Amino acid sequence: MPVTLEKIVSLCKRRGFVFPSSEIYGGFASIYDYGPYGVELENNIKRAWWKTMVQEREDIVGLDAAIFMHPKVWEASGHIAGFSDPLIECKNCHSRWRADHLLEDIGVFADEKMSEEEINEIFNQHKDKVKCPRCGERDFTPVRKFNLLVKSNLGNFAGDWTEAPVYLRGETCQGIYVDYKSILDSTRVKIPFGIAQIGKAFRNEITARQFIFRTREFEQMEMQYFTHPDEEMREYEKLREYRWQYYVKQLGIREENLRWKKHKNLVFYAKEAYDIEYKYPFGFDELEGVHARGDYDLTQHAKFSGQNLSYRDPKTKEQYIPHIIESSVGVGRTFLALITDAYTEEDIDGETRIVLKFKKNVAPIKVAVFPLLKNKPELVDKAKEIFNSLKSEFMCEFDDNGNIGKRYRRQDEIGTPYCITVDFDTIEKDNTVTVRDRDTMKQERIRIEELREFLAEKL
Ligand code: GAP
Repeated sequence: MPVTLEKIVSLCKRRGFVFPSSEIYGGFASIYDYGPYGVELENNIKRAWWKTMVQEREDIVGLDAAIFMHPKVWEASGHIAGFSDPLIECKNCHSRWRADHLLEDIGVFADEKMSEEEINEIFNQHKDKVKCPRCGERDFTPVRKFNLLVKSNLGNFAGDWTEAPVYLRGETCQGIYVDYKSILDSTRVKIPFGIAQIGKAFRNEITARQFIFRTREFEQMEMQYFTHPDEEMREYEKLREYRWQYYVKQLGIREENLRWKKHKNLVFYAKEAYDIEYKYPFGFDELEGVHARGDYDLTQHAKFSGQNLSYRDPKTKEQYIPHIIESSVGVGRTFLALITDAYTEEDIDGETRIVLKFKKNVAPIKVAVFPLLKNKPELVDKAKEIFNSLKSEFMCEFDDNGNIGKRYRRQDEIGTPYCITVDFDTIEKDNTVTVRDRDTMKQERIRIEELREFLAEKL
C-alpha cells in the first residue's frame, strides 16, 4: 500500500505527534505544534544530529546564538536585498502561489534565484498551461519577488517600527558566521574546524503546503566548516559522504529513498551545491543542503562590520579569509522523512496493522509496560514496579488502558520497539514477563531481574 501524506497527517494527529498550531482557533497557516510523541522524536533527531556533528568530531564545536541579531547582519548576508520567492496571485480566487512551483508542476525549470524579469518571461511563455491549483482558472497577476524575512518591533518603543525593523532570523548559520571570531579567540579550534547549531528559523513562506515540509516557523540543524581556500572542495566531498552515511547508518533511512540533486542554478559566490533529497509521499524533494560557499559570508560580514575576520595560520603565518562549506537540514523535514520511511501497513488475519518501524535510537518510546488486566492490583503494582525500575534508563510508558491487543496496536503506531506485559505467571509462577518485539510480534519470557540487561543490549 502506498504511503500517502493523508495517512501520515492522520497518524500524526491521532497519535499525538503533530497538531496544527492554535487549532481551537481554526489553526494558524503553516505553523505546527509537536505533541508528546512528536517532541520525543524531535529530541531523538536532534540528539542523533548533535552526536554525529559535534560529539563524535574533535574538529567541530557547538553554539547557541540568539534568534534576534543586529539588523545589519541581514544586509550583509544579502537577505534584505535578495531573500525572496516569486509570488503570483490568481485573479479569480486570490490565492497566492510560488510561480517557480507552478512552473515546476508542468515540467518547466524555474527557481527562486531567478530575477523578477527572468521568471516573468518564462511564466508568460507557458501561462496557457498553468492553472490555479485551487480554482482551476488561468488568470494570474505578474510575478513579483516577495521577501521572506519576518519582521518584528523588538526594542522599538517609539516611532514606526516598520521603518527600522528587527528580523527574526531566516537561517541559523548567520549566528555562526558572526560568532566565528569569538570562537576562534576563545577556544582551541584551528582551521579546518566547524561550528554546529540547532535552532529556530522563520520565513514568510508564500504557500503552506505539504504538512511540516515547508512551515513558517521551523528548526534548523546547521554546521558551517571553515577551511583553507585550497582545501574547500576536498573537505566538501568528505562532508557530502559523511552526511549521506548519517542518514543511512545513524537514522536508518532506506538508501533507495535518498538521492543527490545537483543545483542547476548556483548563486554567484557558490562553488558547488547539492541537496540530499528524500522520497516523501509527494515525491523526491529537498531534505538537506550541502553547499560550498567560498569566502562570501566572512567577506561580507568583515565589510559590513568593519572587523578583520581573516585567519592567521599559527604555523605558516599565512593570512586568509576562510572558505566555508555547510550542511543544513530542518528538524521537521527529517521528522517527515523518518515517519514516511518507517510507516508500514501489514495484513494480520484480515486486519491492517499500522506500525512505525523506526530504527530503535529514534523511536519516541523505547519500552511500554502493561499489566495484563487493569483491575488486578497485584498485576498493576508489579507492572508499576518494573516501569519505575526502567524509566531512568529508557524512555518508558506505562499503559493499562483498553485490552492488551489495543495497547499493542497503539504502541505499534508510535513505533515502540518493546512491550512488556505482567501476567498471572509473573506473580504466581516464575517472576518472568513477556517481551513482545514490534517488528516480529514474537513474544519471549524474560526474568524480571534480567530485563534491564536484555533491553540495554537490544536498544
Ligand atoms: N543556511 C542555508 C539554508 O538555510 P536552505 O536551503 O534555505 O539553506 C536549509 O535551508 C534546510 O532548512 C532545507 O534543506 C530544509 O531542510 C530546511 N528548511 C528550509 N526552509 C524550510 C521551511 N520553510 N520549513 C521547513 N524546513 C525548511
